[in-house]
Amino acid sequence: MRKLEFLPKEDIEWIIPKEALIAVSILDDFSTKRFLEVGVLNAAWSLNLLRNTDSHGVGIDPYPNLSQMRERTLIKLERHIYVFLENFENLSNFDFFDLIHIDGEHTFEAVYKDLTYSEKHLSNRGVIVIDDVWHSSFPGVAAAFFSWLINSDFAPFLVTGSKIYVTLKSNHSYWYRHFEENFTRYPEFPWMRYYGEGKSLAYISKPDIGSYTTLLSPDKFIPQNLSSLLPIWPTQPFLGDVFQSRD
Ligand SMILES: C[S@@+](CC[C@H](N)C(=O)[O-])C[C@H]1O[C@@H](n2cnc3c(N)ncnc32)[C@H](O)[C@@H]1O
Repeated sequence: MRKLEFLPKEDIEWIIPKEALIAVSILDDFSTKRFLEVGVLNAAWSLNLLRNTDSHGVGIDPYPNLSQMRERTLIKLERHIYVFLENFENLSNFDFFDLIHIDGEHTFEAVYKDLTYSEKHLSNRGVIVIDDVWHSSFPGVAAAFFSWLINSDFAPFLVTGSKIYVTLKSNHSYWYRHFEENFTRYPEFPWMRYYGEGKSLAYISKPDIGSYTTLLSPDKFIPQNLSSLLPIWPTQPFLGDVFQSRD
């Protein structure tokens, strides 16, 4: 059974274990395993994938007034196959990614631009993840995301406490089922098909956007306190089963 590499303590502030597992589960489903992170900072999200999958990544980050942070991050990444770029314009038209994480500048304009570029560089069955989409300090992220989504060919299949996961509508049922199946088998994973599932409710409000429903895995962003996955992270009894490649 394959085990994931331990998530270093200093990275837990930046990536909650649940999101780390979800990202690996998605990338593991591709033979190509190419990913892009927009907004790298200390590269917690990228490093989780580089350590735990046979992947290669690209990071886009201009590091405004953050040159020391850039140097420190470059050192952490030097053992891996990873390319650093300043902006999307530096990508070639032939660069495609299976998983794209958007966590750069948190304004309406920047997120909208990141999404329009990302959809052009996404592989066939690929997934785009938008971070901080529910963050009350950055309403521009939600505004940009929904403005883009409504006119796009994309649909969300998974909502977590801090992120939303989208794919082309034609892949929606594939990814919805992928996580429905895998979450069902692991009680550590907090998830539901709709708010209040399993309780008797007067009525159900389906989590649908434009006729596509999404799985829910809500939590508060205090990973050290709230992630039920953290205590079992070093042994990760479930990962070998969850992350079976389908390619
Ligand atoms: C919240 S941090 C990213 C954290 C990172 N994703 C992680 O998991 O550790 C935001 C990053 O966005 C970068 N940033 C700022 N403006 C940007 C832009 N226009 N495009 C891409 N990244 C940008 C900042 O330099 C900063 O490193």
